[in-house]
Amino acid sequence: MYYLGKISYLTNFVHLLIIFIFLVLRVDCLSFNYQNFTKQNENDFITTEHSYIEFGAIQVTGDARGTSISNLSGRIWYSQPMNLWNRRKNRTASFNSTFVINIKPESDPWGEGLAFILTKESGYESIPDESYGQWLGIVNETTNGSSLNNIFAVEFDTRKSYLDDLDDNHVGIDINSINSVNQVSLMDRGVNLSRAVDVIASVQYDGESNILKVYTFMSNETGVNERNPIISMPLDLSSYLPEDVFVGFSASTGIYNQLNCIKAWNFTSTDIGNSNEVSLLWLWILIPVISVLVVFLGGVFVYFSWWRKKKRTQVLDQSENIEIQIQNSATAPQRFQLKDLKRATGNFDPKNILGRGGCGVVLKGMLDQKEVAVKRFFNDSSQGAKDLIAEVTTIGNLHHKNLVKLIGWCYESNELLVVYEFMPNGSLEKLIFCEENGKGLSLNWEIRYGVICGIAQALDYLHNGCQKRVLHRDIKASNIMLDSELNARLGDFGLARTVQVNGKTHHSTKEIAGTIGYMAPESFHIGRATVETDVFAFGVLVLEVACGRKPGNRRYEENNYTNRVIEYVWDLYKIGRIIDAIDVRLDRDFNEEQAECVLILGLACCHPNPYERPSMKTALQILTGELVLPDIPTEKPAFVWPAKAPSSNEASSDSLQEGQLTPITVLSGR
Ligand SMILES: *[C@@H]1O[C@H](CO)[C@@H](O)[C@H](O)[C@H]1NC(C)=O
Ligand SMILES: *[C@@H]1O[C@H](CO)[C@@H](O)[C@H](O)[C@H]1NC(C)=O
Ligand SMILES: *[C@@H]1O[C@H](CO)[C@@H](O)[C@H](O)[C@H]1NC(C)=O
Ligand SMILES: *[C@@H]1O[C@H](CO)[C@@H](O)[C@H](O)[C@H]1NC(C)=O
Ligand SMILES: *[C@@H]1O[C@H](CO)[C@@H](O)[C@H](O)[C@H]1NC(C)=O
Repeated sequence: MYYLGKISYLTNFVHLLIIFIFLVLRVDCLSFNYQNFTKQNENDFITTEHSYIEFGAIQVTGDARGTSISNLSGRIWYSQPMNLWNRRKNRTASFNSTFVINIKPESDPWGEGLAFILTKESGYESIPDESYGQWLGIVNETTNGSSLNNIFAVEFDTRKSYLDDLDDNHVGIDINSINSVNQVSLMDRGVNLSRAVDVIASVQYDGESNILKVYTFMSNETGVNERNPIISMPLDLSSYLPEDVFVGFSASTGIYNQLNCIKAWNFTSTDIGNSNEVSLLWLWILIPVISVLVVFLGGVFVYFSWWRKKKRTQVLDQSENIEIQIQNSATAPQRFQLKDLKRATGNFDPKNILGRGGCGVVLKGMLDQKEVAVKRFFNDSSQGAKDLIAEVTTIGNLHHKNLVKLIGWCYESNELLVVYEFMPNGSLEKLIFCEENGKGLSLNWEIRYGVICGIAQALDYLHNGCQKRVLHRDIKASNIMLDSELNARLGDFGLARTVQVNGKTHHSTKEIAGTIGYMAPESFHIGRATVETDVFAFGVLVLEVACGRKPGNRRYEENNYTNRVIEYVWDLYKIGRIIDAIDVRLDRDFNEEQAECVLILGLACCHPNPYERPSMKTALQILTGELVLPDIPTEKPAFVWPAKAPSSNEASSDSLQEGQLTPITVLSGR
């Protein structure tokens, strides 16, 4: 689409250019051809009072219907002027004017005559007054002979009006005067102008050699081409006429009448480049301008194409890269098409948003009649792509009943999407803290205990159970979903946000992944996730679920890290009333032994010293009763950094040998 648009734009431009050049170079000469005349042609002509088109012909002095045609004179011109000569270029145009004359006597004797004319001007008023009769509409008594007349005429005279006139059937050349400079009788040439038949006349002027030729013959004559002109004379029209002239006819009647008709007219002339002059000048100006424009636009186009291509290949590269990375992972999840996911989510309708995370939003959708959750990463390409790869390669290979299942993914047009199974009961956070449990769903102790055990299993699986150790790095109530049977499902691998803590922390400006309240105190010192930080977050989660309290704010002045729920429980533990910490909303309806175990395990996991925390494996064994609870100090120990590893201690030795505080391959990709 984009390329096509550009190309058609360019071709349009080239078309315009060609048309423009054509217009500029157009041969601008006067030529026309009328085989006959109709009313439709009227606008092509300028006439005086008594001239008009009627009966398929030009009636130069009117027809005889009803009105008197005595003492009339008239003129008719073609509406466009002709460029006859050019002073600066010292050039004169050539022209051929061939027309069919039909003169019908209307009285006996008849009169007066008709003429082909070139005049300075045209128009209703431009005919001299009193130019009827012998004046043929060319001049009048006063103006006869005046060089101001600027008129050239070839007269076809049907009356001998003066002594000078040869006869009543002659052709004369008139310049500003009715007294012809040259005249020829048609008597002995087989042409009778007054027989009401078509007479063909041709006036040919050669502007190069300044020769005027006049031909006359009857329309039924043959071999006219070889015929000699009746008049052939040198004549420089540019001495008598202005540079631009109007071409037409004049005619008159007097006391004797006739109909003066022109039945056809063919006019051709040469171009002497007057208009080209201007056009060429324009061309000289415009060609460089246009060339520069074309080069510029071409450059822009080429640059754009290059840029698009580059961008496309980049995007493709990234897309391929993502695909390769994902396909390389053991079990490749399904790749979806963007249009399907768009349809599934109502084109990412905000109404379908289930939740927002640090790097995207999660929308509800319907894929093949199945409810799904679609995570749409924010359009922050590189980070989003990393998150997507992390998420798809990590969780895509994991299969555990307490993990949210990944169904597929999509990367198209810069959209990064991951599709999960839909969790109808939403997040644990909502269920614990949302007071309106309108669905009649109450998180009783059994469910809470089940959630804690489920998450413990999931984390044990992540840390110890799968091929490579996976750190979730963002364990919290809002990342735990409850499925339709209220089983806990750990989700949102990769939705973990990064928290900028520079300026607030005392040493580190490193970015630390996780959520405030769930982050182990040492996180800020080591600046990375470890198995122990996951365990700490699990401990916070356990206390949160059991007590129905939010983790609370993190306050960390120097060596004084506090977390309200931990402090709260530990304080109750100190006075031997730990069981009071259990959520009051449970109304004391719980298994006390279990509850105490859970709370103490939570505190153990939240031990400020990472070395003292149990591993997830141990935690799970404690929950299942395979192991006894570890001893924890009655008073919450202060956080000391660097933490002291216990001297080869019994219980935790096994987890220590795994080198817990050394950085572990972080599969989440950040
Ligand atoms: C035509 O004009 C002449 C004078 O030029 C005049 O004698 C004659 O009466 C006029 N005829 C008509 C019909 O007006
Ligand atoms: C114009 O051209 C004619 C020949 O075509 C030449 O005789 C004449 O001198 C030229 N006039 C001028 C002013 O150049
Ligand atoms: C006029 O006609 C003659 C003879 O046919 C021809 O040679 C000449 O080119 C024509 N001139 C124009 C301007 O048409
Ligand atoms: C001849 O025509 C001119 C211009 O139309 C006009 O002013 C003048 O009066 C006319 N002469 C006669 C004798 O009618
Ligand atoms: C021309 O035709 C007219 C009308 O037909 C006729 O009266 C006249 O005598 C003819 N003239 C010549 C010279 O043949």
